[in-house]
Amino acid sequence: MHTETHVSNRWSSRYAYILAATGAAVGLGNLWKFPYIMGENGGGAFVLVYLLCILFIGIPVMMAEVAIGKRGRSTPANAAAMVSVESGHSSHWSVIGSMGVLAGFLILSFYVVIAGWAAAYVLYAGTGEFSAAAANSTTHAEAIGTLFGNLVSSIPQLLIWTTLTVVAVVYVISKGVKDGLETAVTYLMPALLVLLICIMCYSAIVGDFASAFAFMFDVDFSKLTIKGVLVALGHAFFTLSLASGIMMVYGAYLPEGVSIAKTSIMIAIADTVVALIAGLAIYPIVFAHGLEPSAGGSIVQSLPIAFGSMPMGDFVGTLFFIMVVFAAFTSAIALLESAAAYLVERQGLTRVKAAIIAGSGIWLLSLGTIGSLAGSEWAQINFGFMGGNIFDALDYLTANILLPLGGLLISVFAGWIIKTEVVKSEFSLAPWQFSLVMVLLRFVAPLGILFVFANSVGVLDFIS
Ligand code: PFF
Repeated sequence: MHTETHVSNRWSSRYAYILAATGAAVGLGNLWKFPYIMGENGGGAFVLVYLLCILFIGIPVMMAEVAIGKRGRSTPANAAAMVSVESGHSSHWSVIGSMGVLAGFLILSFYVVIAGWAAAYVLYAGTGEFSAAAANSTTHAEAIGTLFGNLVSSIPQLLIWTTLTVVAVVYVISKGVKDGLETAVTYLMPALLVLLICIMCYSAIVGDFASAFAFMFDVDFSKLTIKGVLVALGHAFFTLSLASGIMMVYGAYLPEGVSIAKTSIMIAIADTVVALIAGLAIYPIVFAHGLEPSAGGSIVQSLPIAFGSMPMGDFVGTLFFIMVVFAAFTSAIALLESAAAYLVERQGLTRVKAAIIAGSGIWLLSLGTIGSLAGSEWAQINFGFMGGNIFDALDYLTANILLPLGGLLISVFAGWIIKTEVVKSEFSLAPWQFSLVMVLLRFVAPLGILFVFANSVGVLDFIS
């Protein structure tokens, strides 16, 4: 059932929207996940495929989501239902919105825990733990491993860092769209960019920049597997925060007259540039220290080893983790926004109450991830193919099922269900540009996503 409720909030400018949406997109996916999946999937050729996926699938799906949110001027489920009814179809299409908000909520429950690790690492680096670990070269790597091990196995520590993160996110959301979200991204996003560029320059000076550059940009297709292509497509999705309700909500706040196509392209470029600079900041350090480019937990496990023995390593390490916290935080506030906006719009709650209730729900759910990491018995429920504990299951369910499925439905909805005139008026593109985007939404995106989805659930395992 949908209702005729609307959101009244608007971004104060096009710039504010771009900053907020870029903040939502740039996150742990760029700084932590992208460098390591690039490492695992062969570098340059993977980067090229990833760029193509952003261009031909990510951008059109983002445009569709923003357009649905803007057209409906409502929270995701309601907006999708209204747009569907307007085109003479069933209000059941609200499912694309509800699935997104659900996915966003589940993602946030573990995202706040990982953001909490990054906050803990600011403290570790700032208090000289990295260089202290390096003081004895024989036990160096082990000491850094212990630092990480002690954090993730300690329920009280994880609870403290996660709670701090949730409280900060709730605080920003309780302040509203302009005073909360906009103000936060206005300070955090430029700071993040400056930190990232400084760290990249530092890496270029003290690290092995040439090897990093060659690793990231020398295209060797023999290193690319079919699975690598699918990982690139899946990540294009994750990194742009698609199918998580966010882009629909942010679209609902879009002022009239802002070009959805232009801003989507800018957000995608900004997100991609950050991911590439992150690679150019991390890999020179990794290569200079003979560490593994594909090490999964590299930014919390490998990088501190390197920082410990580098000039000004504790200081740069502190800046690095502050940057990770900022990036994670601007994504976390976006994720809470869609849940809070729903409570305000549909349940008539005040912003403050909605933020506190949504935040409490996230905090409670995060206990599942905390228990999983710390190895608690109760969190080791067997979820079968989704992994052995609550954290693995949430990660699997969101990244491998809900996001691809949501993206598939969004592209089908925008490509085949919404009336063409409606899509046309929202996109306001030149005729050839509109035709191109429609081909991408009707055929390229659904087929590509179907491919990723089939892979995620194991259907294509026989290929590799
Ligand atoms: N895009 C963000 C990142 O790359 O870390 C976070 C994110 C938000 C991922 C929402 C996925 C999502 F559905």
